Amino acid sequence: MSMYNDKVIEHFSNPHNAGDMENPDGEGVYGSPVCGDMMKIMIRVSEDDVITDAKFKTFGCGSAIASSSVATDMVIGKTVEEALAVTNQNVLDELGGLPAIKIHCSVLADHAIKSAIFDYAQKHGKTYKGLEGFDPNADEQDDHHGCDMEIHLPEKLSDL
Ligand code: FES
Repeated sequence: MSMYNDKVIEHFSNPHNAGDMENPDGEGVYGSPVCGDMMKIMIRVSEDDVITDAKFKTFGCGSAIASSSVATDMVIGKTVEEALAVTNQNVLDELGGLPAIKIHCSVLADHAIKSAIFDYAQKHGKTYKGLEGFDPNADEQDDHHGCDMEIHLPEKLSDL
């Protein structure tokens, strides 16, 4: 029996919002301190602060791809503050759970989205309560579940 539920497999097989975005309003890249996999999230934000589109590129495992797919789905249509309130646990719940050793993969999506919003806020001179204390360069302190993949960082972030 697969260690992944049907929803995870479906989002991995047919990910939503995968690809590039031209001239995004904000973009964030996050590399997992656990396995070295990387994710880039790009967002488009309307004048009334609603995320109208989000795209991702993930150099990572199937769980990271499924997490990116649901996480981008979850933030599209939300205001920036609402999107900042989306937690890693919300992403996991939406996926119907991940095996324990794969929990860290979902953290990539959560952190990369917050990094993209941080970039948007900086470029547009905005401040958000949900960004207080957020450091896009800080390693997420998760519980360092083991990883079954080798570290394979891309040579440049632009390769993402
Ligand atoms: Fe690295 Fe899943 S993101 S193993």
